[in-house]
Amino acid sequence: MKIFAELLLFGIFAFLLISVNGIETFEFRVPQKYPYRTSYHFQPQQNWMNGPMYYKGVYHLFYQHNPEAATFGDRIVWGHSVSYDLINWIHLNNAIEPSEPYDINSCWSGSATTLPGKEQPVILYTGIDNKKHQVQNLAMPRNLSDPFLREWVKHSQNPVMTPPSGVEVNNFRDPSTSWKGEDGKWRVVIGAQNGDEGKTILYQSEDFVNWRVDPNPFYASDNTGVCECPDFFPVFINGSTNGVDTSVQNPSVRHVLKISYLRKQHDYYFLGKYFSDQENFIPDVRLTGTSSDLRYDYGKFYASKSFFDYAKNKRILWGWVNESDTTQDDIEKGWAGLQSIPRQVWLDKSGKRLVQWPIEEVEKLRDNQISLTGEKLVHGSNLVVSGVTAAQIDHSIVESFGDGGRVCITSRVYPSLAIDKDAHLYVFNNGSQSVVMSNLKAWSMKQAEIGHEGNISYT
Ligand SMILES: *[C@@H]1O[C@H](CO)[C@@H](O)[C@H](O)[C@H]1NC(C)=O
Ligand SMILES: *[C@@H]1O[C@H](CO)[C@@H](O)[C@H](O)[C@H]1NC(C)=O
Ligand SMILES: *[C@@H]1O[C@H](CO)[C@@H](O)[C@H](O)[C@H]1NC(C)=O
Ligand SMILES: *[C@@H]1O[C@H](CO)[C@@H](O)[C@H](O)[C@H]1NC(C)=O
Ligand SMILES: *[C@@H]1O[C@H](CO)[C@@H](O)[C@H](O)[C@H]1NC(C)=O
Repeated sequence: MKIFAELLLFGIFAFLLISVNGIETFEFRVPQKYPYRTSYHFQPQQNWMNGPMYYKGVYHLFYQHNPEAATFGDRIVWGHSVSYDLINWIHLNNAIEPSEPYDINSCWSGSATTLPGKEQPVILYTGIDNKKHQVQNLAMPRNLSDPFLREWVKHSQNPVMTPPSGVEVNNFRDPSTSWKGEDGKWRVVIGAQNGDEGKTILYQSEDFVNWRVDPNPFYASDNTGVCECPDFFPVFINGSTNGVDTSVQNPSVRHVLKISYLRKQHDYYFLGKYFSDQENFIPDVRLTGTSSDLRYDYGKFYASKSFFDYAKNKRILWGWVNESDTTQDDIEKGWAGLQSIPRQVWLDKSGKRLVQWPIEEVEKLRDNQISLTGEKLVHGSNLVVSGVTAAQIDHSIVESFGDGGRVCITSRVYPSLAIDKDAHLYVFNNGSQSVVMSNLKAWSMKQAEIGHEGNISYT
């Protein structure tokens, strides 16, 4: 078994890669200061993740943001940050804010799609309208020559979708990135609920403005409650780690439907076959409600979104990692929630599950390295790893990648003792026999540059 564990305590990171007898690999990341503070200061309690996208050399992260508080609020906006490498970030002004009857009570999650041909990015997002109904709206960049796409214009025909019959007016949200069927029409799925049934609703359009609902749910599940942030994309079946554009449908790919079930607070995914001519997604296995259901992450990781990075031919997945302290703690520290490190995602050779791994760009932050080979660890012993800086402040995240990325677990920990110089990296042998660590590597990590435009040297 291979385990890749990553311990993230904000700030300067340390990596630790341990391979015991060639069988186990751990990687820990121990940041020192808190790098994401301004980035992820405020987040609402749900749907925190919007449409990430890549456009002409620039990565965009749109995120759900409450400018008023570190808690969920009734005027949620789309925050906007840009990056050239997914590691260092420049904060911009909000991209979308409540202003019209169709979004006056908040601008909730949505997704970006780049329309081919015109190379035109567009956003579909959920507005909470003046009747507190959930509707879908369209926005386009004001100036395509602005490399950061700072300003977004709402379409005059908004809302472009209102709750169809069989969908609760306050449970109709989170349009996915759109894909094109073989007939040239656009498709999008939207999360919904009707009674206890959770479903994803499919819409079709020829022009991205006029949308027609498909009478059959794309995927429905009993007794689950609302489906949030659906994501639908193809993956190569041949074990290639490359990503695939969202609209690709051919025999070299299968499809992934991801649903965030609010009641469970987890992101589940289904592998299956998709036939756009029949509007039919046939999952290999439907939701069972048991531990055999596939999840992106077996810890805290919700409302994730993926996008296709066509510069690097990778599909990148990002999730929102909620706090596990109290709301009162969040108010005191003035922020809540953060994003996972972006992960590359692909289908395992077995075809039975996805594989995730932190994007290679994170390695740019590696600093001091220590490397141990052939160390013997007798049973019941532990080894303190010195030479890499450990972390300060009492908030942390641990992202673990096991079995080469086939199983991921993200958790929040708030150490009260293992802070500053009192934080160390240890290797334990809790087994009944001695082992030889064939290889252990750890790195201190530099701080990422994250700040407001004009106040950051990163350009
Ligand atoms: C569009 O953006 C470009 C590049 O930033 C800028 O030079 C131009 O003035 C902008 N046009 C308008 C109409 O704002
Ligand atoms: C997987 O299939 C794609 C599409 O046919 C091809 O481009 C790629 O080279 C293949 N990769 C491997 C590792 O076989
Ligand atoms: C976030 O975490 C808090 C504390 O664990 C929990 O009460 C809350 O329900 C979570 N919210 C979401 C949307 O995950
Ligand atoms: C493993 O060993 C370490 C160090 O001796 C100890 O602190 C820890 O509690 C042990 N863990 C388990 C699960 O026994
Ligand atoms: C840049 O930093 C200065 C000094 O800390 C501050 O006054 C100013 O508001 C900052 N500007 C932005 C855009 O963050």
